[in-house]
Amino acid sequence: MAKITTSTLLKMKQQGQKISTITAYDASFAKLFDQAGIHAILIGDSLGMVLQGHDDTIPVSIDDMAYHTHCVSKGVDETLIISDMPFMSYATKEQCFENAAKLMQAGANMVKMEGGSWLVETIKGLVERGISVCGHLGLTPQSVHLLGGFKVQGREEDQALDIIKQAKELEVAGVQLLVLECIPNELGQAISQAVTVPTIGIGAGWHTDGQILVMHDALGISCSYMPKFSRNFLIDTGDIKKAIELYISEVSKGNFPGPDHIFK
Ligand code: KIV
Repeated sequence: MAKITTSTLLKMKQQGQKISTITAYDASFAKLFDQAGIHAILIGDSLGMVLQGHDDTIPVSIDDMAYHTHCVSKGVDETLIISDMPFMSYATKEQCFENAAKLMQAGANMVKMEGGSWLVETIKGLVERGISVCGHLGLTPQSVHLLGGFKVQGREEDQALDIIKQAKELEVAGVQLLVLECIPNELGQAISQAVTVPTIGIGAGWHTDGQILVMHDALGISCSYMPKFSRNFLIDTGDIKKAIELYISEVSKGNFPGPDHIFK
């Protein structure tokens, strides 16, 4: 198969085919997920929690992200590689350009940043310089202390309308993918219809154009609790590659997420 690009993902949205993505942090898992047929791998700053054992993603550094991006890139042939910009590594445009370059040179095809309107000029600047960007709205874990915990976002109407507005702004700024985390099912649907770029949900219901899971949750090996929106695919298969194939197939058939995995 050919290398998966942002054009592949856009075409999938246009044709109503569901996109499956997962996190990975090293070459071995990345290779297995690539061979299973996953469409994109995210080197998430969730590595701060699932690899480093922190309570949140805030301690993760750009050097951590570049190291794990490099590891993943060594295992991947076809899958699109997205790398997370960690906490405060994109607080100013200048910091963002310098740090995004580190991730791209480590092997990323796209960088992901958490936030809405305030990022518009930064995203435009990255795109003008040839860097592909993924947005991230809803629950943005790097703001966990400001948000008062890992909580579902957009349940109030004004908050929901604001998230839709910010999604449109990110699209105009040039994002080619948009992660939506922990928002009600209906809001996931409204945003996915309001933008032309593919939306990838995690706890964002079944109407998003694709899904993403933290690999430790999808395999039931997280050191913390299992989030409501996740499912252990290893239990049904007993084999890691088969578990990821099952995840891809369940997403593609619209069976995952199921009614127990969504927020209202
Ligand atoms: O860091 C991460 O793994 C993420 C996903 C939860 C989307 O941002």
